[in-house]
Amino acid sequence: MPTIVTLPGDGIGPEIMKPALELLRTLSEDFSFEEHLFGGAAIDVHGTALTDETLAACKRADAVLLAAVGGPQWDTTDPDAPRPEQGLLGLRKGLGLFANLRPVRPVPALYDASPLKRERIEGTDLLVVRELTGGIYFGAKTRTATSASDLCEYSVAEVQRIARVAFEAARTRRNQVASVDKANVLETSRQWREVVHDVHRESYDDVELSDVLVDNAAMQLVARPADFDVIVTENLFGDILSDEAAMITGSIGMLPSASLGERDTPGLFEPVHGSAPDIAGTGAANPLAMFLSVALMLRNGLGWETEAAAVESAVDRALDGGLRTRDLGGDAGTAEATRAVIDHLDG
Ligand code: NAD
Ligand code: IPM
Ligand code: MN
Repeated sequence: MPTIVTLPGDGIGPEIMKPALELLRTLSEDFSFEEHLFGGAAIDVHGTALTDETLAACKRADAVLLAAVGGPQWDTTDPDAPRPEQGLLGLRKGLGLFANLRPVRPVPALYDASPLKRERIEGTDLLVVRELTGGIYFGAKTRTATSASDLCEYSVAEVQRIARVAFEAARTRRNQVASVDKANVLETSRQWREVVHDVHRESYDDVELSDVLVDNAAMQLVARPADFDVIVTENLFGDILSDEAAMITGSIGMLPSASLGERDTPGLFEPVHGSAPDIAGTGAANPLAMFLSVALMLRNGLGWETEAAAVESAVDRALDGGLRTRDLGGDAGTAEATRAVIDHLDG
């Protein structure tokens, strides 16, 4: 029986974790769930966003399912105060989850829910492969009374392994990789570009590779999103570009993610969005990114392809049937959206 560590976290986190568990229990009784406090909720009780006990439980699990962390009550500019987001970064680093996969595939029923024109987004099916445990997120930070700095550092090995993930993914898709960098300015990007091309030449010359500067990529993503297949990029660029890409699907409330490490490491599955403090407690949170993250967990974390496809199909059919949460321009709340998806799962 697979053990799944669940981390509801903060804000809308617990409100979307509950429906996710309901969905999983509808699919199968064959799960063992272990819930832990995480993020701000863990700071309030333990003084830290990620306890050693929670990290150890995640390491032992078959998969980790996370909703969201963060909120204004823990926001601080004091470098010594604990922050919810440190829990997430510590978990990614602690599990060695260097590859973050963010699939962007708008469902036809939502083409008109996107602020982008239907003819621009039609046929879009792209995958952002974001490097997740290196770069400026994890470099040394300094702060004095008059200055501050964040170091952006990448080793060749870190770039090689994420490049391989992107090329392998492309081979199962449309065989194209766009490597996004800022090689006209940054030394880390110049190294990134060289290493991606070395890996390409040595092992993946059947895959079509292009280089796109990150500012241009941000523009191309809204101008011609359907032309992208796999986008591979470093940590910070991937964070920003994936929120932008979310709007192609209609809402950030639709985008799931999978964070994977070396073989035998449990994966972490979570929506791309945050804890949405502005709507927390109102029952308005869209649970679909969470459900689609459950599908990624079933597929990539547990190897349960049939169940994964059943969840994705139930989400598609609920949307085809007219389900629209508020972020998609409708009036369905979390409970109604959950019911609609679970009803389609049953039939
Ligand atoms: P956010 O993604 O939480 O919210 C941005 C906007 O999108 C808000 O208007 C919100 O209401 C809306 N939104 C997000 N998810 C939604 C959903 N499921 N249904 C309906 N609407 C949704 O980003 P933010 O406001 O910049 O950040 C809030 C907090 O979340 C911060 O503390 C941030 O650090 C944290 N955060 C956490 C994660 C994570 O846990 N993985 C990711 C991003 C941000
Ligand atoms: C994400 C989030 C996180 C990130 C934050 C909460 C640390 O924005 O998962 O995209 O920047 O990676
Ligand atoms: Mn983000």
